[in-house]
Amino acid sequence: MLKRTIVTLPGDGIGKVVLEEAIRVLDAAGFEAEYVEGDIGWEFWCKEGNPLPDRTIALLKKHKLALFGAITSKPKDKTAAELAPELQGKGFTYYSPIVTMRQHFDLDICMRPCQTLPGNPLNFIRRAKDGGVDEPVIDVMIFRQNTEGLYGGVEWTNPGDQVYDALMSHPKFKQNFAWCPRPELAVSTRIFTKKYTTRIVRAAFEYAHKRGFSKITVCEKPNVIRETSGMMLKVAQEMSKNEFPHIWVEDVNIDAMTMWLTKNPENYNVIVAGNMFGDIVSDAFAGLIGGLGFATSAQFNPESGIGVFEPTHGSAPKYASYDTSIVNPIAMILSAVMMLEHLNEMEMAAKIRKAVAEVVAEGKVRAYDMLKMKGSPDVVKQGAASTRQMADAIIAKL
Ligand code: NAI
Ligand code: MG
Repeated sequence: MLKRTIVTLPGDGIGKVVLEEAIRVLDAAGFEAEYVEGDIGWEFWCKEGNPLPDRTIALLKKHKLALFGAITSKPKDKTAAELAPELQGKGFTYYSPIVTMRQHFDLDICMRPCQTLPGNPLNFIRRAKDGGVDEPVIDVMIFRQNTEGLYGGVEWTNPGDQVYDALMSHPKFKQNFAWCPRPELAVSTRIFTKKYTTRIVRAAFEYAHKRGFSKITVCEKPNVIRETSGMMLKVAQEMSKNEFPHIWVEDVNIDAMTMWLTKNPENYNVIVAGNMFGDIVSDAFAGLIGGLGFATSAQFNPESGIGVFEPTHGSAPKYASYDTSIVNPIAMILSAVMMLEHLNEMEMAAKIRKAVAEVVAEGKVRAYDMLKMKGSPDVVKQGAASTRQMADAIIAKL
């Protein structure tokens, strides 16, 4: 096997802990790689006034693939106060290193899987017809457009003349918002481009095709948000007609989706959505399969091949300083598995997935979240597995 170089971006707090465990699992599965660590996160904001230093961007550009833990970000007042004294008042502004990384490398495709691991005590259950309990098997991949839409950053408070005049040229604006004093007006745009809408929709179709699913679900709101949601639905319908006639397009509004997914989550396998609705629907689905200890994501650019694989949880600062870490490493480990799949190391990926599934199914080794305990340093004494013990149990199965 080719020896690869992988950039590790541990970041802050528990990001550092879970990433280390994921690498132990990759090693144990026989993945041969050299790991180079990139600086990212709060520490580098405080020390250098930049949470994503240029040298980290250069590393990622060179090696293309990264495993990312989590970063800490803090409210505005703390951001300024924690900057090194010699850097204060020098015009440094904090920005999210994750969003910056996404935009810099145009990581437009985000995949967020939500798949039931049988035996996980956190799995969603519902009342069955006979009054008993029913546990649907969930197998969903959410394709979230990762760079545009409501998170595109094109927004104003108290917009200037050009923007205001342009808004006033729209009859609806004139009719409904002209009464508002300009300084009291906040505008965030939702921009979709056909190029990137097509790319995320295509990624969803290709995945559905590969997995043998006969449907993709567009999760937007085209009846109200006619231009942008409407564009995504139309792109999907045309792609179905012209390129994937064996896969049909289901149109489910985002609001309805959040209702349906607790009624019949097993009816969905491939969902595609814009940036914000994709964020919402993936968090909602993640809650059905165990939440933050299990939710993973991959973001990549299909042209450059640059990809970042990460759990969706944050740095959980309240657990970061524990002598024995208690957080569940499975989300990070499964993110590393997504990287293997991206590299087409399917056998190795399947081996780790199987090991994780076996540990969860057996139920002998469970992190505090799986035991529904309140997080505290005592949980290990009360029978919860530590972060290390969870990873060890998975490694033992390999
Ligand atoms: P969080 O995800 O760090 O933690 C929320 C809670 O979820 C934790 O207190 C813990 O109870 C639980 N949790 C998280 N990860 C877990 C795991 N692996 N196993 C078991 N339980 C787990 O989100 P929070 O507290 O809102 O934010 C903390 C910091 O993380 C903030 O500075 C925030 O900005 C940042 N953040 C970073 C993200 C990233 O790097 N991708 C994403 C979300 C938040
Ligand atoms: Mg989210």
